Amino acid sequence: MSVNKQIPEVPLIDFIKHSLEILKNPLPFHNRNFIKHGDIFRLKIGFKHGVFFCRDTEFAQYVLQKNQRNYVKSKIQTEDLVKYVGEGLLTSEGEKWKKQRKMMQPAFHKSQLENLINGMRETIIAQFAVIKPNGTLDVFPVLNDLAFQTVVKSLFTKAAKIEDMERLQFITEANQKMLVKELRQPYLGWWFNLSGTLDKYLNLAQEARTILKDIVEVRKSSGKRYDDLLDMLLDTTYDDGGGMTEEQLIDEILIIFTAGHETTSNALTFTCQLLAKHPEWQDKIYHEWSTLGGDNVDLMTRISASKVCQQVLEESMRLYPPAYFIDRVNITDDEFNGLHVEAGSNLLFSVYEMHRHPDLWQQPDRFMPERFDEGSRPFSSQYFPFGAGPRKCIGNNFAMFEMIIAVTELVSKFKIIAEFETIEITPLITLKPKNAILRFEKR
Ligand code: HEM
Repeated sequence: MSVNKQIPEVPLIDFIKHSLEILKNPLPFHNRNFIKHGDIFRLKIGFKHGVFFCRDTEFAQYVLQKNQRNYVKSKIQTEDLVKYVGEGLLTSEGEKWKKQRKMMQPAFHKSQLENLINGMRETIIAQFAVIKPNGTLDVFPVLNDLAFQTVVKSLFTKAAKIEDMERLQFITEANQKMLVKELRQPYLGWWFNLSGTLDKYLNLAQEARTILKDIVEVRKSSGKRYDDLLDMLLDTTYDDGGGMTEEQLIDEILIIFTAGHETTSNALTFTCQLLAKHPEWQDKIYHEWSTLGGDNVDLMTRISASKVCQQVLEESMRLYPPAYFIDRVNITDDEFNGLHVEAGSNLLFSVYEMHRHPDLWQQPDRFMPERFDEGSRPFSSQYFPFGAGPRKCIGNNFAMFEMIIAVTELVSKFKIIAEFETIEITPLITLKPKNAILRFEKR
């Protein structure tokens, strides 16, 4: 392949001029540059080769799938996050990652998740008790608690103490906030060290590990089975027949908390906001769910048949993908369609931009769940809410089942009414909602 194309470069001065705007929300700056320079441009900041911003879906598939062996995650996941959650599925690389993925995959298989969905539903119904008819509230904290509780109860059933679960949620969220601070203000690293701030959060991470160690030890010595995610993780074995060490298991649990909670609560919140703005889709979900036979029919059968709700969730994650960018670094020099990518280049794939690319989507900014009437498969080359390739989200089925249960429960009981003008976003590590003020009327 001839290597002759120059990657357009955005001058550093442009970045500096807009730095305040970028700090608040970098997405409009990215969008302007994609329109001006095309689907790949380079910004010479921070790293040796600068950062490549990409919304070229073919390039994304090349990096995440076809030539994935030549790409690793950036230091944000493999170093910065590791100090809080350890080295597990999300944060490891190479042989270690491969071994863990192979071992953990069966625990997230649909057939295993079937054991968890009735418990998920119980948790979700209990969390929705805070929503009162005619009440107005910011729904994000409610859905955030819901997502954490769903993960924690899927892991430990009722076997963990309430105060332990609350503490684990507090620590997970506090450490995520600290990581955001470190990434947004890297120049304060010396101060976080000197002032003892970093140690405070590392101690919290240690406290979470101690709580989890107790839970795991009690489970192991009890000899009881709960058929929850913890039992499934304890059952899994490597090729040589051995199980995970306790430290590894704790890393994986901390990672499941981190990867599985904020992403899901963001997606659920945006979905509620979109439904509030498009009540006709609430009615469609309600009517479909009502025809599926109620509690007499097995929950998994109803979840699988709830096509309208799935379409709405797919469209919601198209417009507001919680994981709104995916990053990779190449190990050796690479070439793609005549572009040369030097080894060690930082590539940022904007899922947000790929999901709204005007060449790929009709009326890209409009909420049109009907585009997913045949599911998401027809869009597999341009739609990446859960990533792509071998590192695709292991919890995608878990998240979809949880979100279908939550949305159908909510819409069955309430009409959701918007108490905001337009949906606003806060792009941090994940794409977070900002103004999800909703009113609920009894249906
Ligand atoms: C709507 C909800 C969710 C979204 C949008 C989401 C998105 C993603 C994405 C995009 C990746 C790939 C990141 C990359 O390639 O760099 C990923 C990985 C991962 N996700 Fe999710 N996720 C969600 C829910 C969950 C849940 C519920 C769990 C666990 C219960 C989970 C666990 C993980 C793990 C462990 C990985 C790392 C997989 C690996 O590297 O092998 N996620 N997720």
